[in-house]
Amino acid sequence: MRLASLALVALFALASAGTAGADAAASWKSKCQSCHGADGKSDTPMGKGMKAPDLTAPAIQEQDTAALVAASVAIKQHAASFGSLSDAEKTALIEHVKSLGP
Ligand code: HEC
Repeated sequence: MRLASLALVALFALASAGTAGADAAASWKSKCQSCHGADGKSDTPMGKGMKAPDLTAPAIQEQDTAALVAASVAIKQHAASFGSLSDAEKTALIEHVKSLGP
């Protein structure tokens, strides 16, 4: 019985880790991709128009996750996309940005 509930807890942990990744990819598509593109290079009409940076560049990739979250929240062009996100979602999306790096 105890073993079974431990196994259940482990299963839940795995399942939610899996959805966090999937959620981040889906949120990236709906909230970030219009400016930053699927690949994070910001090679989109909106990204170019706003001079959004290539997020795969070393200057961005070298920063740690917490610093990038703080910098992103402060960007005024992010008011609409970051405004409705929880702290966990912000972190998951910045981790997604980091996964796009070289
Ligand atoms: C409306 C266009 C737009 C959308 C949507 C957008 N961004 Fe940005 N983003 C920008 C622009 C413009 C900059 C550069 C701003 C500056 O340097 O002043 C930027 C910069 C960044 C940076 C670099 C921060 C730094 O340290 O220089 C990161 C990381 C980032 N965006 C992540 C995201 C994520 C994650 C999302 C989705 C939640 C998102 N962006 C949605 C326009 C956008």
